[in-house]
Amino acid sequence: MQAVRIHRQGGPEDLVLEQAPYPTATVGDVIVKVHAASFTPDELQWPVTWIDRGGRDRTPAVPGHEVAGVVTEVGYGTTGLKVGDRVVGLTDRHRDGAAAEYVAVEARDLAVLPDEIDDVTGAALPMSGLTAWQALFTHGGLTAGQTVLVHGASGGVGALAVQLARDVGARVVGTGRERGRAVAEELGVELYVDLDRAAFEKLVGPVDLVFDTIGGDVLARSATSVKPGGTLVSISAPPPEQPTRGQAVYFIVEANRDQLAELASRTAAGRISPHVGAVFPLAETAEAFQAKRRGITGKVVLLVEPSAQTASRS
Ligand SMILES: NC(=O)c1ccc[n+]([C@@H]2O[C@H](COP(=O)([O-])OP(=O)(O)OC[C@H]3O[C@@H](n4cnc5c(N)ncnc54)[C@H](OP(=O)(O)O)[C@@H]3O)[C@@H](O)[C@H]2O)c1
Repeated sequence: MQAVRIHRQGGPEDLVLEQAPYPTATVGDVIVKVHAASFTPDELQWPVTWIDRGGRDRTPAVPGHEVAGVVTEVGYGTTGLKVGDRVVGLTDRHRDGAAAEYVAVEARDLAVLPDEIDDVTGAALPMSGLTAWQALFTHGGLTAGQTVLVHGASGGVGALAVQLARDVGARVVGTGRERGRAVAEELGVELYVDLDRAAFEKLVGPVDLVFDTIGGDVLARSATSVKPGGTLVSISAPPPEQPTRGQAVYFIVEANRDQLAELASRTAAGRISPHVGAVFPLAETAEAFQAKRRGITGKVVLLVEPSAQTASRS
């Protein structure tokens, strides 16, 4: 099969489209014929990109851990999915990813993709959707009537966090660069702070929940925006400061079939929609990894094999 692989620790320029072995479905796995895939731009910097769960070198590695496609094979003892099911999911970061014609995925990490959702939208959903869901609800405990400050509100994760928070009846304030304002405002933030021009601490808070997707200086300054009993959730690094009389949580997203099915159901119903910034063919994966440098915001999706449910996008 054709796959995008990287043979040594490096950057996007080291990604090559080449022939690779067809994956094996072990116990609990299915093989997914990939229609569309997506990735996190900095995943080539993750240690797990280069090693398996035993710490052994697993290069050449296939990147891209978000997949939308169809089940073509079911491994020994695997239940819950069957050949022909349209699926979406987050693949194991210690194993080969979905920038390929086929990928082996644990069935429990996949949910059925409703027919109303095209492959591009589906591939953009798992990482951003699950991260936003777990940040707001699992770790942040967000409920109706509360206020959340989302740093990076027009990004892949941030845009879904804004929509999920609004959907649950929370008030949302967003931050980011000026170029993200239109997207964030359209998604329903009550106030958007351009971080290059204003200090968010002076304009916002204290709030029930701060969800930081940016990190660095923004994260370091965020503890003071949390009100007593509130929470600071971060996904780029552990917060250097704990909020006074509040809590700080850093977490790494987990695959979760039930949450993914709920995200897919809300997407199918038009209640949320991942922000897709660009779509590239698989052969242009190296360029796709560098799309952010060209000013593209939101998720970048790789179109591997267009199916009937693939909407045309550019
Ligand atoms: N812990 C986890 O499980 C987990 C899961 C998913 C993602 N992540 C991490 O979370 C981060 C966000 O992921 P993502 O997919 O949402 O990325 P993304 O699509 O690039 O979104 C990041 C957002 O933050 C904005 N931003 C970044 N730096 C900024 C700065 N200095 N000032 C103002 N705005 C800034 C970006 O604006 P521009 O686009 O204009 O730069 C963009 O709107 C990444 O570091 C990713 O690796 C962690």
